[in-house]
Amino acid sequence: MNYNHLIQKVYTKIEAVAPQGEVASYIPELSKINPNKFGVHISTTQNFNFGLGDYQEKFSIQSVSKVISLCLAYKILGETIWKRVDVEPSGTKFNSLLQLEADNGIPRNPFINAGALVICDMLISNLENPEEDLLAFIANLSDHKVEFSLKIAASEKLTGYRNVALCNFIKSLGNIDNEPEVVLDFYFKLCSLEASCEELSQLFLFLANQGKTLHSNLEILTKSQTKRVNAIMQTCGFYDESGEFSFRVGIPGKSGVGGGIMAIHPGKYSIVTWSPKLNEKGNSYKGMRFLEDFTTLTEQSIF
Ligand code: DON
Repeated sequence: MNYNHLIQKVYTKIEAVAPQGEVASYIPELSKINPNKFGVHISTTQNFNFGLGDYQEKFSIQSVSKVISLCLAYKILGETIWKRVDVEPSGTKFNSLLQLEADNGIPRNPFINAGALVICDMLISNLENPEEDLLAFIANLSDHKVEFSLKIAASEKLTGYRNVALCNFIKSLGNIDNEPEVVLDFYFKLCSLEASCEELSQLFLFLANQGKTLHSNLEILTKSQTKRVNAIMQTCGFYDESGEFSFRVGIPGKSGVGGGIMAIHPGKYSIVTWSPKLNEKGNSYKGMRFLEDFTTLTEQSIF
């Protein structure tokens, strides 16, 4: 498969499309980004790498980081994590409080904010230095150094009223062990991670490679765990637009309000797009368009 030719073709087409939607502004620092940024990078299990546009510029990965926190918790705690967080699509907005009361504080999945907060709580209880240990885990995934943005974390902390509500609500329902403030600080740091399309696609390549890193052959997750993480991305990676992404793109993925989308073709590749303007569901407009055309043109999907 001549991926660079196909990416070039789709990139040229989508680059010319006027981006629709809005840059996320509920985290004030995110609204400062140039809305016209557009990058894409693919990393394959055959060790082929190719990027176009702003693929080397770091951006705020936001909820794409929820895949990292899930993988770390899954690695440390194994199947016990599913007692505290479910694996069902929510069908609601990523920061919704609606279902928690009926579900007794068990979030629908680890990729909505509620689920990621519970995963953060697990990590805090089980890591000596949660922030450093998280960065050390990420450092194993590729050759790249990824850091928190203290500016973005502080900006989100100032305006993160819904996350404060979510965390306190789950605590009142008995599914947060640590102090909400401690959990929230760690969660905001997690969301503030910055990486480029190139760095992210290399970092997540283990999910396309049966749980092992390509550069060092290190087992991050077992084959079965890898299948499960990809399955949850397929059903829950785009909040209440997960069905639409599955329908249009046909591979698992995860989005973030910084405009990034990471998608995995198991056995083949990991691909990351970045374009900051988001559709009304909070997913990158151009990123979704790009990936839809890319899987259509390659005639490769998991279905
Ligand atoms: O908690 C929040 O609202 C953000 N830090 C992350 C949200 C996010 O990326 C959801 N994405 N579509």
